[in-house]
Amino acid sequence: MRTFPYKYELTKELSFYPEHPVDISGYSLEIGPGRGDFLLSLAEKHPDKKFAAVELGKRRYSKMIPRIEQKGLTNILLVRGNARVVINELCKEAAFERVYVLFPDPWPKNRHVPNRLLSIEFLNQLTRVIKPGGHFFAATDYYPYAIWTTSNLCKVNSLRKDHSGLFTGIDALDDYTPSHFEQRWRDEGRSIYYMRYEKL
Ligand SMILES: C[S@@+](CC[C@H](N)C(=O)[O-])C[C@H]1O[C@@H](n2cnc3c(N)ncnc32)[C@H](O)[C@@H]1O
Repeated sequence: MRTFPYKYELTKELSFYPEHPVDISGYSLEIGPGRGDFLLSLAEKHPDKKFAAVELGKRRYSKMIPRIEQKGLTNILLVRGNARVVINELCKEAAFERVYVLFPDPWPKNRHVPNRLLSIEFLNQLTRVIKPGGHFFAATDYYPYAIWTTSNLCKVNSLRKDHSGLFTGIDALDDYTPSHFEQRWRDEGRSIYYMRYEKL
């Protein structure tokens, strides 16, 4: 059984935009924002709130910076690194109202399941940084991933299903704009599965 993060990930240098914070806190934390459509739309809607995001991909991280600057947004902290490392090192306390993981890589082959991001271990890590009464939120177009994730979520003691746990109607969500991947899959007519849980 693989355990994450790998040792080499612990020594990889992190990057920060606009600068290295003492710790990471704010209204919401997004893991793997990709192009950043969802992140930027939330930050634009709420200029009085702070938004943090951790993106593994160097190119994706670098491409987001000019988009943030073009919009003149000063309420985003972007970290380039593996969220499994960053959360442990830089999120000291329950500092977020919301944590989002939208369309994590599905790793559909059986032998690749251990690579999936939303393991019980990582969900526990994420839950630690959500304030009591705050929410964890995930979305995927891949039904087996949704089932696997909800089964993991059930094993996280300090989370409780909000809504029905797993649902498909976007109308049940407040303050939500489809991410780049969500829009792509919607345009192809795929169903989308959402999960929303409350931190006790
Ligand atoms: C399928 S894309 C989805 C992007 C975006 N959330 C969307 O819905 O359009 C998955 C994203 O998660 C990022 N990612 C994967 N593993 C990660 C990790 N351990 N830490 C941070 N980001 C990660 C990938 O680099 C990629 O940008």
